[in-house]
Amino acid sequence: MAEQADQAIHAFTETDYWASPTTQVFAFIGLLYVSIKLLSFWRLIASLFVLPGVPLSTFGKKGTWAVVTGASDGIGKEYALQLAQKGFNIFLVSRTQSKLEALASEIQQSCRVETKTLAMDFAANNDSDYDKLRSTIDSLDVAILVNNVGLSHSIPVPFAETPEQEMRDIVTINCTGTLRVTQLVAPGMVKHHRGLILTMASFGGILPTPLLATYSGSKAFLQQWSSALASELAPHGVKVQIVQSYLVTSAMSKIRRSSALVPTPKQFVRAALSKIGRDGGAQGTSATSTPYWAHALMHWAIVNLTPGPMNRRVIDVNRSMHEDIRKRALRKAERDSRKAQ
Ligand SMILES: NC(=O)c1ccc[n+]([C@@H]2O[C@H](COP(=O)([O-])OP(=O)(O)OC[C@H]3O[C@@H](n4cnc5c(N)ncnc54)[C@H](OP(=O)(O)O)[C@@H]3O)[C@@H](O)[C@H]2O)c1
Ligand SMILES: *[C@@H]1O[C@H](CO)[C@@H](O)[C@H](O)[C@H]1NC(C)=O
Ligand SMILES: *[C@@H]1O[C@H](CO)[C@@H](O)[C@H](O)[C@H]1NC(C)=O
Ligand SMILES: *[C@@H]1O[C@H](CO)[C@@H](O)[C@H](O)[C@H]1NC(C)=O
Repeated sequence: MAEQADQAIHAFTETDYWASPTTQVFAFIGLLYVSIKLLSFWRLIASLFVLPGVPLSTFGKKGTWAVVTGASDGIGKEYALQLAQKGFNIFLVSRTQSKLEALASEIQQSCRVETKTLAMDFAANNDSDYDKLRSTIDSLDVAILVNNVGLSHSIPVPFAETPEQEMRDIVTINCTGTLRVTQLVAPGMVKHHRGLILTMASFGGILPTPLLATYSGSKAFLQQWSSALASELAPHGVKVQIVQSYLVTSAMSKIRRSSALVPTPKQFVRAALSKIGRDGGAQGTSATSTPYWAHALMHWAIVNLTPGPMNRRVIDVNRSMHEDIRKRALRKAERDSRKAQ
């Protein structure tokens, strides 16, 4: 008897609880929130693993040209190689002529496409270099531009202590260089009513990054600029996209061993070129893609499962991380200099 009564009371209170309008409102909000997140997660998975990107042939036939800056190493070299494998002629631009020539002959042997090279230092911002660049570009039918050249701080450094030269170089190479090259290439694309402009960005542009402040700011600059340009050029049939990336193995990242979170340039570029027009992990950010799957999951999680990239706590955690990296780098430099003596 007592047990039955207990059950009845229990059942009553539970029904009562769920019948309360306040509870219903909260339950509805909760359900809506979870549904939105699930839908967004499903879109992420579809973008990464199910839906194809726009085929590269949309942007130009075989025999049209791809221009790659910072082309002789790392991610830029992979863009050059993989675009050559797709049948595009390749115009390679970076500092070191010998590295450019080695890559050009590697491409010609394996892919039977034409190549051109120009050695220039984007840090010099020299008009005569840009004149040479312009005269070559004007003679080519350029289908694809990859703005890949970039420089980061050599080690994390408080902004006030950043060497002036390093600060200037980052802005000159990453921002000014990208703008000037794009201005040389875009008119031809508009004339042909087709083309693709990819610009390499990094999480440092979405997440304010203490001790890499100048780099972080320059990447954010590129993000805004590229999204604005995308809207300007879309009516002219030209696709503009920022390619977001977390770490990739390369000389710049100083990471040699790849892992799930840190792909090789080859894996990264394959993802980038096969997912043109898909947003990957960069949902809702116009003309932006985070194409590599592990970076995309990370990007999605930062936006959806943390207080967000502009949150003070998230930024402070990053600052402690970079202060540690700086301490270790300085200690290592000291050890090395003692060894050298
Ligand atoms: N690696 C990463 O973890 C990572 C993450 C996010 C974004 N990114 C971005 O991806 C892009 C490529 O990075 P990466 O890791 O592949 O770099 P990398 O391996 O260091 O290669 C840099 C390339 O740029 C050229 N270069 C450097 N400074 C130059 C200058 N002043 N003028 C002309 N060319 C110059 C280099 O050629 P020379 O040596 O012949 O000059 C080289 O070909 C960068 O924009 C970077 O910000 C990289
Ligand atoms: C630019 O490059 C040209 C040709 O290499 C050189 O003669 C000139 O001195 C350079 N200008 C500057 C400002 O460095
Ligand atoms: C400059 O470009 C490099 C390589 O793309 C990148 O790692 C760095 O974040 C960029 N810096 C700025 C300020 O855009
Ligand atoms: C922290 O800094 C790194 C650069 O070392 C950056 O790539 C990353 O996106 C930052 N993460 C957060 C959570 O701010």
